[in-house]
Amino acid sequence: MSSIKNKRILDVLNGVPVDKTPVWIMRQAGRYLPEYKATRAQAGSFLDLCQSPELASEVTIQPIKRFDLDAAIIFSDILTIPDAMGLELKFEDNRGPYFDNPIDDIDDIKSLSDKNTDSKLEYVAEAIIHTKEKLNNEIPLIGFSGSPWTLSTYMVEGSATKEFRKIRSIVFKEPEMLDLLTQKLVKSITEYLIMQAKAGADILMIFDSWGGLLNTQNYVNFSLNPMKEIISNLRKNSITRNIPIVLFTKGGGSWLNQIAESGCNAIGLDWTTDISMARNTVGDNIALQGNLDPCALHGTEESIKDAASKIIDGYGFGHRHIFNLGHGIDQYVDPENLGILIDHVKEYSKKYHQN
Ligand code: CP3
Repeated sequence: MSSIKNKRILDVLNGVPVDKTPVWIMRQAGRYLPEYKATRAQAGSFLDLCQSPELASEVTIQPIKRFDLDAAIIFSDILTIPDAMGLELKFEDNRGPYFDNPIDDIDDIKSLSDKNTDSKLEYVAEAIIHTKEKLNNEIPLIGFSGSPWTLSTYMVEGSATKEFRKIRSIVFKEPEMLDLLTQKLVKSITEYLIMQAKAGADILMIFDSWGGLLNTQNYVNFSLNPMKEIISNLRKNSITRNIPIVLFTKGGGSWLNQIAESGCNAIGLDWTTDISMARNTVGDNIALQGNLDPCALHGTEESIKDAASKIIDGYGFGHRHIFNLGHGIDQYVDPENLGILIDHVKEYSKKYHQN
């Protein structure tokens, strides 16, 4: 099916042996790169950049030109879905993304549209098509969405707040209201991910950045089960039936067994989870992605290499590890340090892949 030249990540996801540990970086297209800042200035704003297929594909490719990365991830944002459903997304430089009129009650949820989310987000499909052309089948392209729970937190809170009291109260006070929102999001996210695969995404990733706010029972009810429903919808569709799916719950380290049963092909780990413990827990039938503390990139050449080696040693011999950070790279990282990290992962991991 795929004629992609560097298939390392696809191989890891499909359980095929590789020669070294593949690597990509969460938020690899972002503000730590001067060329990103230049293109963003050219676009006018963050949202203009997201909605310009040509410029979005350009920033997607920027880190690929600099570093020996094994995948690209389409430049967009998880909050484009709530925007397409009717909550107007805004963005300010010192504040990040936010909604002026977050959800307060069930009527607000009823008035959200879950119809034709895919056609409203056509600009993402176009960005994927442009990017695939630029990648020229060298490496795979990752498409993504936020999880229903993580999108709900932003839609109810308006932005990332400190305590998330409003959404966490709704979990206990008005669970039926949250169920309705979740069901609308499951439908929209399913359509959106199928659209991305149709446009050319080779891998799909679900970001559950706020799953770790919940207790186990509520995590299963309001985050994991809806993600499972999305995966099962994708498995029923001819376009996405066999597409590899990565599921990342930040703070999900104590639910690895449950996540492994979701039908995903890989579990994304944040940096608080010990990777050898994770592998012992879930075994080799599923891949692991992660999990260097993003702040390790502020260290010296020696400390960066040492921190990366520890993760590679922690995983040990085997072919089911995709190296990544445990969360997004921050804007203050020196790009040179990222180069040191990526080259070291490639070199150091060879010894664990000699069958
Ligand atoms: O990884 C990539 O290179 C692809 C692009 C990507 C972005 N956002 C670009 C972006 C991806 C995969 C995301 C996902 C995303 N967006 C998540 C899930 C992952 C995670 O971080 O937990 C979340 C929670 C969001 C919501 C969001 N978007 C926040 C909280 C912020 C502000 C954070 C910050 O660093 O200021 C954004 C803005 C954003 N999304 C930026 C980028 C490059 C910075 C925007 C800019 O000023 O140019």
